[in-house]
Formats: sequence, C-alpha cells, structure tokens
Amino acid sequence: MNDDTSLTIGVILASLREGRMGAVFADWIADVLARREGITPEILDLRDWAFAPFGQDTVAGARDAPLPGPSLEERWRATIARLDAFIIVTPEFNHGYPGNLKNALDVVGTPWSHKPVSFVGYGYSAAGARAVEQLRLVAIELRMVPIRDELDMRLGGYAADARGVPVEPGILRQAEKLTDELSWFGRLLREGRQRRGAEATAR
Ligand SMILES: Cc1cc2nc3c(=O)[nH]c(=O)nc-3n(C[C@H](O)[C@H](O)[C@H](O)COP(=O)(O)O)c2cc1C
Repeated sequence: MNDDTSLTIGVILASLREGRMGAVFADWIADVLARREGITPEILDLRDWAFAPFGQDTVAGARDAPLPGPSLEERWRATIARLDAFIIVTPEFNHGYPGNLKNALDVVGTPWSHKPVSFVGYGYSAAGARAVEQLRLVAIELRMVPIRDELDMRLGGYAADARGVPVEPGILRQAEKLTDELSWFGRLLREGRQRRGAEATAR
C-alpha cells in the first residue's frame, strides 16, 4: 500500500501438488490484477510457507530450539498484515479445500480481519464451488469480508490455451468484474480500518 488508492492484493496459491493447475490460475489472475490501475498482485505460494500444524509449536518438545529471528508463522502474519485484500486460488479435494490452506488461515488470526477476499476455485464435477462455499464460512469467522464474485473453473470445461490459461472473453470479463469489486471493497475497508484505528487512539 503506497498511497490512498493503490492496493496490494495477495493471491494465495493453495495446492502443493507437482504439476498443479493452481499455479496456472494464480499466474493468470495475478496478470488480470496487474492490468488494473493501481493494483499490485503478490502471489503467496503455500509451498514457501510450510507451517507446522496449528498449535504444534506450543507442544513441549514438538520442535527443536527456535532459530534466531522471526519464525515462519510470524513472517506470514506480517505478510498478511501488510496486504489489503486476497484471492484464494484453491482446488477441490474430496468436496473440500486442502488442509494446508486451513492451517495457513488458522495460524494468522487478527491480520485477516476486515479485509475482503474472493476465490478462484477449480475442480471437476462442481468446478471447485464446494471448496469455495466452505471457505466462505471460515472467512467470516476470521472477520474477513468474502465478496459475492468468485470464479469456479471446471477443468476441461472452458476454452484454454495449451497450459490451461482461460481464453474465453466471458471468463476474462468475470475476472475483471471480480477484481473491480474486490478492489472497491479493499479501498473501502482499508479506510474503515484506518478510521477505527484513529478513533481507538483518540479515545
Ligand atoms: C485426492 C483428490 C481428490 C479430488 N477430489 C475432487 C472433488 O471432490 N471434486 C472435484 O471437482 N475434483 C476433485 N479432484 C480433482 C482436483 O480438483 C484436480 O485434480 C485439480 O487439478 C487439483 O488441483 P492442482 O492441480 O492445482 O493440484 C480431486 C483430486 C484429487 C487428487
């Protein structure tokens, strides 16, 4: 966040699989974001954030002596705190979203609060929509603001280039609409957080 209007949007890449389609979708939606005025996308690849299961570090003897400097979890929290909005790119696995994504959400806490989130879900039979529906409930508990717009990508069910990047104008329009809605909420909620912070300081 550099000035009143520019936004930095985190694109969370949830799948860890070799050959994951998630990387294609994350790169694509980050490109869509980057083409909009005043938006800087930042891909957060969960392969780079291999957290212990939530709470394990508090179990006596579960970890070796901590290394000096901020832990992975502290760096992740600081990263989330710095960002204005999020798009979670998630596959559907057994009618849900991946467990490592839940862990990445759970280790953070308040830095998610009052920030908007949208989703790019993908899969076969339900195009990732079941995973996204479940994530919406989790997002609300984290005090995030899940916006209505989302993309549900049915693998093999849309016109794509050789890598699987969508080339349908209708999908691109949907992605742009999602981006505009997310950035509108991103600016509005950032202002609200700042105002609430200023009011709390003044009290
Ligand atoms: C263990 C497993 C379970 C899956 N379950 C579902 C499912 O319930 N619904 C669905 O639509 N696709 C399902 N799929 C298909 C995945 O969503 C699809 O393979 C997707 O490409 C995985 O994401 P990735 O390529 O980014 O790793 C499943 C795939 C795997 C490997």
